[in-house]
Amino acid sequence: MYNGKMNKDLSVYLGVSKGKPLNWNPKQEKNPHLITVGGSGSGKTETLKAIMLELKKSKVSSLILDFHNDFKIFADNLVQIDKATLHPLEVQINEKPLDVCYKVSKMIANVFVLGDVQEAIIREAIKVFYIKSGIKDLKKENDGTIELMPFSYFRDIIFDTPIQNQGVPKLLAKISVLFDVDLFMNADGTSISLDTIIKNLSVIELLKFPTDEVKALVADLLLKKLINFLYIKGKSEDYWLYVVIDEAHRMMYPGSPVELLLRESRKYGVGIILASQRPTDFSETILANAGTIIAFQESLDKDAVFLSKQLRIPKVNFQKLKTSGLGYCLFSSKDEAEKVQITSVKDRKEYQEIAKNFDEEERSDYFNKELKRIKKEKDRYNNLEESNKKQEIKIKELEKEISLINGTLERKEYLINKHDIETKSQQKEIIRLSHENGKLTEKLELRDEKIEKLEKKLKK
Ligand SMILES: Nc1ncnc2c1ncn2[C@@H]1O[C@H](COP(=O)(O)OP(=O)(O)OP(=O)(O)O)[C@@H](O)[C@H]1O
Ligand SMILES: [Mg+2]
Repeated sequence: MYNGKMNKDLSVYLGVSKGKPLNWNPKQEKNPHLITVGGSGSGKTETLKAIMLELKKSKVSSLILDFHNDFKIFADNLVQIDKATLHPLEVQINEKPLDVCYKVSKMIANVFVLGDVQEAIIREAIKVFYIKSGIKDLKKENDGTIELMPFSYFRDIIFDTPIQNQGVPKLLAKISVLFDVDLFMNADGTSISLDTIIKNLSVIELLKFPTDEVKALVADLLLKKLINFLYIKGKSEDYWLYVVIDEAHRMMYPGSPVELLLRESRKYGVGIILASQRPTDFSETILANAGTIIAFQESLDKDAVFLSKQLRIPKVNFQKLKTSGLGYCLFSSKDEAEKVQITSVKDRKEYQEIAKNFDEEERSDYFNKELKRIKKEKDRYNNLEESNKKQEIKIKELEKEISLINGTLERKEYLINKHDIETKSQQKEIIRLSHENGKLTEKLELRDEKIEKLEKKLKK
């Protein structure tokens, strides 16, 4: 079991540089982040796999957003996220609905390449969705009382949007795939929790979602969840988690969760490992601030020029690299980039053993248990609601019954069993109904604690 803290001397063997082993020591750099760039087939995914193997060996918790089932084999906790539920408009504790509205509309606009008007329609529709869910003040933080309507209602809300223009059918055509995704469509109040997701080395399987857009959106939503989780958890000197994203280009846009994590996650003890084909996917500020950069072959002149500036070596150096996994590594603690041949994961000692022992069923164990627990919770919640409804009906019947009695003031008290949905406990409730000549004049619902207070008062 991992202890949730990164070994202070974590040292990740990367490969060979000038005949000597080259290691990455995150604690020695200005931040724990690592960015790798390079053209197709240049060795990015292999590098990330090799790093995953080393993190696994060092028992460092990681969260891998896996778009192509490249990293499954390293998982301690395999998260088949498509089997869970995630409400895209979920407002977590401490979040303000209006902030979520802006963030999520931006995410949707980015992945589906929407125009400004279309983004505005989404934004307004989210506001309407919240208001219809009973939220009165969109600027007030969720204190745990927000309960959203199922996500499936969102389509109709977009359709009825007051911004009347031709854009709506076009917009719905663009984003319609969202309404085919069970992860979203089955989401009512309950969404998958991060406790399930972050467990030793967790691999989130995104391959099964229908399109790249949906995969990117799910990944973005999870990172948004993570950011809020970090704010609540608080700052940490110890690095305790790595977030790993191969092919991160789709998730890099101004104000994206990845960008925010790159800027802020260090303070919370979280490092980010990213790979992308084009260095220009990252802003100059991000690259200039990365603790570690590994750059492989880039044949495009523009990209090579960009890298040359960042790593301070001639652009031809990047164009000349012909071997996969051969590249330049720049650590923030050093002045010059070092040429390195990354040692492929297959040539690392423990790899064969990990591959041999991989058992998908077993690695999905924790997640499956969690899915069962969530289902049970949902059923229980539904049962409690059901039985409370029955009690409500009973009260209505009593009211009716009392209204049939003619005569002077009379008071009747009834003991009712109610279920507190939050605490899932049974609560005794006394319903006091008073009537005068068939008219209900008073209806009091007394909860347990009130009953006690009343008793105390009477004793005095
Ligand atoms: N360090 C390495 N040592 C030996 N072979 C390597 C190394 N890195 C990559 N290769 C070989 O090159 C192939 C392509 O590498 P990889 O999949 O890592 O490329 P990539 O940069 O992720 O490309 P893409 O952007 O298309 O995903 C690998 O399947 C492997 O055969
Ligand atoms: Mg790759």
